[in-house]
Amino acid sequence: MSDENRRTMAESTHRETADPSDDDMLVQTDVSESVTESTHRVSTPTVIRAEHIDVYYNDVQALDDISLEIPENRVTAMIGPSGCGKSTFLRCINRMNDLVDAARVEGNLYLRGKNVYDADVDPVALRRRVGMVFQKPNPFPKSIYDNVAYGLEIQNKEGDYDAIVEESLKRAALWDEVKDKLDESGLDLSGGQQQRLCIARAIAPDPEVILMDEPASALDPIATSKIEDLIEDLAEEYTVVIVTHNMQQAARISDKTAVFLTGGELVEFDDTQKIFENPASQRVEDYITGKFG
Ligand SMILES: Nc1ncnc2c1ncn2[C@@H]1O[C@H](COP(=O)(O)OP(=O)(O)O)[C@@H](O)[C@H]1O
Ligand SMILES: [Mg+2]
Repeated sequence: MSDENRRTMAESTHRETADPSDDDMLVQTDVSESVTESTHRVSTPTVIRAEHIDVYYNDVQALDDISLEIPENRVTAMIGPSGCGKSTFLRCINRMNDLVDAARVEGNLYLRGKNVYDADVDPVALRRRVGMVFQKPNPFPKSIYDNVAYGLEIQNKEGDYDAIVEESLKRAALWDEVKDKLDESGLDLSGGQQQRLCIARAIAPDPEVILMDEPASALDPIATSKIEDLIEDLAEEYTVVIVTHNMQQAARISDKTAVFLTGGELVEFDDTQKIFENPASQRVEDYITGKFG
């Protein structure tokens, strides 16, 4: 969550709960103000609900009894040391683990109340509603335009492709940089631009949820900062779930944080501010403060 968001939140809280004469009182209550900010934040409907998810790769358990609820139009971050199952969990949401031979998923995962593991769910249709962006930007060796239009073409989607491509590139904060060279190869863009192109490709089919697996970890600091700003903007339209091993990044851009620790266990899941300022678990506190991981 950015400072700007916090400010906006604080301002709207003020607007809702106080007339201007209360300002002094609000200004003085420094510590509790930051707490009331998050409690006053309007909660949104649950989009994804995981219930007792276990994942095994052959006989090795990678996730152990994960239950959590992911809210609409928020950024939810998954953090934790390498190998604790963050990517595995992300792949449960759009059934990408189906493509991993060794993987077996048990438990239930609901997208707006429908269990995505029900026999009548088409994983390809599911992945239209739940788009994904990977760690390494992976544009196709095609033009910028075709990279974005690709998702529409494979779905035989009707519509004004030019308009959808433009809108998707605008939402991905890339339009101004590429509008005069849409027929040039996506591979000729910089790393940060390539990642925003992949984000444009993911949002062109108009998904409800966007999953991002360490989307900035291959990028330099300036490109990273652009992606972080973009992720916060995307949460106005979409529900965003991001895996990151960068705790500062999670603190900056997310509303909710899930902390996974070794053994594929979800140790704590709460408002980001609570996780970073006052976690319930000693193990989480040790991890956050850098004692291990
Ligand atoms: N395709 C796979 N086959 C076998 N084991 C895997 C596979 N993918 C991940 N694992 C194992 O599952 C555990 C969790 O991995 P992963 O979800 O990638 O963790 P993270 O994203 O938190 O680094 C690790 O022990 C990893 O070695
Ligand atoms: Mg991973």
